[in-house]
Amino acid sequence: MPTVMSKRLDGKTILITGASSGIGRSTAFEFARTSPQNLKLILTARRIDSLNQIAAEIVQEVGAGVRVLPVQLDVSNAQEVREFVSKLPAEFKEIDVLVNNAGLVKGVAKAPEIAEDDVEIMFKTNVTGLINMTQAILPSMLARNNGEGSGDIINIGSIAGREPYPGGSIYCATKAAVRSFTESLRKELIAKRIRVIGIDPGQVETEFSVVRFNGDKSKADAVYAGCEPLTPDDIAETIVFAAGRRENVIVADTLLFPNHQASATIMHRKL
Ligand SMILES: NC(=O)c1ccc[n+]([C@@H]2O[C@H](COP(=O)([O-])OP(=O)(O)OC[C@H]3O[C@@H](n4cnc5c(N)ncnc54)[C@H](OP(=O)(O)O)[C@@H]3O)[C@@H](O)[C@H]2O)c1
Repeated sequence: MPTVMSKRLDGKTILITGASSGIGRSTAFEFARTSPQNLKLILTARRIDSLNQIAAEIVQEVGAGVRVLPVQLDVSNAQEVREFVSKLPAEFKEIDVLVNNAGLVKGVAKAPEIAEDDVEIMFKTNVTGLINMTQAILPSMLARNNGEGSGDIINIGSIAGREPYPGGSIYCATKAAVRSFTESLRKELIAKRIRVIGIDPGQVETEFSVVRFNGDKSKADAVYAGCEPLTPDDIAETIVFAAGRRENVIVADTLLFPNHQASATIMHRKL
């Protein structure tokens, strides 16, 4: 029996950035499982092999009602983003839900020792990339519904955007920028039927910390020592829940912690 939520999502085209891993990957599965009869998923990231694999796994699990288009895309490259949008096949062009999830953190250095490359890649991906995607997709959302527009833009921020912490200044600044952009956009689109949704996860175990420590798995594991972090599925459920509300309901702002976490740095560790 289709649920109310699966009916609301039926026929939609969902675009997820950073779908090759973690929260983005889980979000792709969660949308497919929630509305398996008739859904289109565009999965983007730089690692196309992972996207192809995920696309195959989704279709194998839920069947051919979900059509998946994996596309290699670096969100930080504005030209690439524009070309990606212009080359979308006709049946995938009308994007109903944009999940701006691609993002990363590099290192734990403090000023003045933060590597210039790390500053650049975090801002280019987390901030400019999210803005590139939004600007590229928004015109088609605005053109629908007799000029009233329609669609959802779901931006993945972080507790780091609300509460800066030492050793995370650049990442925190990027996520604060995401929060500001999200709130401005919601206000700019007040007269339109486009929902702007912000979701801020606390600690989630994904490849995030492995990327932070340049592949050093033992350092990444230490982040979660004595903790039970959220899973990427926990965040995916919230993203799909927000997209699956009645059109007049905006889940504008959500902060998610695991039970042992109370702020960016207050963590109860059972050690
Ligand atoms: N894990 C946490 O504790 C946590 C907490 C709060 C917020 N978040 C946020 O959640 C989002 C997802 O992170 P995650 O935890 O799922 O980490 P993850 O497992 O490392 O996934 C990050 C995704 O972003 C993609 N990505 C990175 N740079 C990209 C680029 N330039 N262009 C396109 N895609 C790019 C990666 O794909 P490719 O490498 O294949 O490009 C990957 O699919 C991020 O915005 C992160 O800041 C995470």
